[in-house]
Amino acid sequence: MLIMNDLLSIQNFSLAIHYENRILPILHEINLHIETGERVGLVGESGSGKSSLAKAILRLHEFNYSLLTEGGIFYKGENLLGMDAHGINSIRGNEISIVFQDPLSSMNPMFKVRKQIAEVLIHHKGVSHSDADDLIYDTFRELHLTPPERFMNAYPFQLSGGQCQRVMIAMALITVPKLLIADEITSSLDAIISEEILELLDSYSRKQGTSVLMISHNLHTVRKFVDRIGILYAGQLVECLNCYYLPERAWHPYTRALFYCADAKRDEKGRFKSIDGYPPKPEMNIKGCPFYSRCEYHTDICREEMPSSETETGDWVKCHHADQIRNEQ
Ligand SMILES: Nc1ncnc2c1ncn2[C@@H]1O[C@H](COP(=O)(O)OP(=O)(O)OP(=O)(O)O)[C@@H](O)[C@H]1O
Ligand SMILES: [Mg+2]
Repeated sequence: MLIMNDLLSIQNFSLAIHYENRILPILHEINLHIETGERVGLVGESGSGKSSLAKAILRLHEFNYSLLTEGGIFYKGENLLGMDAHGINSIRGNEISIVFQDPLSSMNPMFKVRKQIAEVLIHHKGVSHSDADDLIYDTFRELHLTPPERFMNAYPFQLSGGQCQRVMIAMALITVPKLLIADEITSSLDAIISEEILELLDSYSRKQGTSVLMISHNLHTVRKFVDRIGILYAGQLVECLNCYYLPERAWHPYTRALFYCADAKRDEKGRFKSIDGYPPKPEMNIKGCPFYSRCEYHTDICREEMPSSETETGDWVKCHHADQIRNEQ
């Protein structure tokens, strides 16, 4: 189902890894749509499949195992999964850019920052070396990498974590992509630097009109930045909702537990509150709701049947007890 304004439309997408004679299901029937200019968050615990989905969009999975996919990931109506190498290369970094958590590992330590970004511009936009330099200079100024010459002439290892991540954001946005995927881009940085980087990303991408898919395990970080949030649990999207209505109209017990933990005070040892229990491992063949064993509302049907949502556009939730939870409010 392609909605008129969809820039990216992930439809019934499932992903499994074929690994040492085993098949590990990682993502199950994901439906997620991003409109032009829209900001969407993807939130879930570690191992829920966030990066797997991000990598699947640009087909960036490592090649030491084979992948089984079902469904489609449509960019402007064209299925990215069916594109040949030339097709997907013309999308990567040009139409859709991605920034990962660890900026240093995405850069080549042997080359100065200027050369690495210039190559992106020359490759994707065919600009001359001197035009590339001018563009890098202006982008660095916008992203508070000043004086720009200092950062352009630096090697990646000469930059701090926050500076390095700003360079990566510059590299991702300098081609003016239609969609930016930001996968845990601030989780290795301290709170003040994270906030500053997210604000810069926010204003710069808004100015460019870039849509954003912001991925994080931190609901509060994402919530400040996006219009809509998808909650991923054990490879399944369990709820999608407009941030404006958060947290009052979050109906899935997992989303509610995430809020509760994020808002709760730390314990006497200074630890954050977490949800009791663990999510199911990919190799466990779960028939019903994946949150069943950790859910205070669970009944027999939750173990037996995966709940469906009435609609997968607008706000929706997949929980057998969503009506009960709504009525309790
Ligand atoms: N190369 C791989 N081989 C085997 N299993 C993998 C591989 N890559 C991912 N997985 C499994 O896929 C699941 C999802 O992993 P993924 O990295 O997408 O989660 P994530 O939500 O991004 O987690 P995190 O918050 O820690 O980054 C996990 O169970 C993980 O163990
Ligand atoms: Mg990840």
